[in-house]
Amino acid sequence: MKIDEYIQHRRSHFIKEFSGKTVPDSVLDKMLENARWAPSHKLTLPWRFRVFSGDEKNKLCEQFEKYYIEKTPSEKFDQIKLDKIRTYKSKISHIISIGMKPSGKVPEWEELAATAMAVQNMYLTLGDEPHAAGYWTSGNGAGSEWMRAYTGLEEGDKQMGFFFLGWVDQKRVEAVR
Ligand SMILES: Cc1cc2nc3c(=O)[nH]c(=O)nc-3n(C[C@H](O)[C@H](O)[C@H](O)COP(=O)(O)O)c2cc1C
Repeated sequence: MKIDEYIQHRRSHFIKEFSGKTVPDSVLDKMLENARWAPSHKLTLPWRFRVFSGDEKNKLCEQFEKYYIEKTPSEKFDQIKLDKIRTYKSKISHIISIGMKPSGKVPEWEELAATAMAVQNMYLTLGDEPHAAGYWTSGNGAGSEWMRAYTGLEEGDKQMGFFFLGWVDQKRVEAVR
């Protein structure tokens, strides 16, 4: 494949498309290795990723469930949404928490941007995988103090959401722009 194809065929794949099979850890290794080659001003390498798998992943999914129950105002509560969260455990293979540690050496936005570039590298790495796929979610308590602390980030660090990784039998490449 050429670079244009990697970029244009990169697709987000969602929970309903995940079969529940486990993605090999070797895919995670490649994603994380490529993530750290993202650029960062003054080479502050601000991203902080943490991978949740197996029982740890199941416990994080239980946190998403609790977060939804405790933090959703009653007028917005949606049983269908809660039922969907309850499928996460059996569908998602790995969850990568996306964190950022501000260095104080450059403006915060630059380090948020650098972290997003690292996530893009992870997304693009999946272009070589016939079945491993996923998406960046900014839901599920992303950005909250609750998730910052739970994912092991220190005070002042930014929790920027999660990359949900799963096994997809038939990956899509088509999209609208
Ligand atoms: C920062 C960021 C946050 C996102 N958050 C969500 C999300 O919370 N829920 C979701 O379904 N998709 C989320 N997405 C994925 C987008 O829905 C997806 O990129 C978009 O539909 C375009 O599809 P593509 O990635 O296949 O090109 C997010 C993407 C980015 C970059």
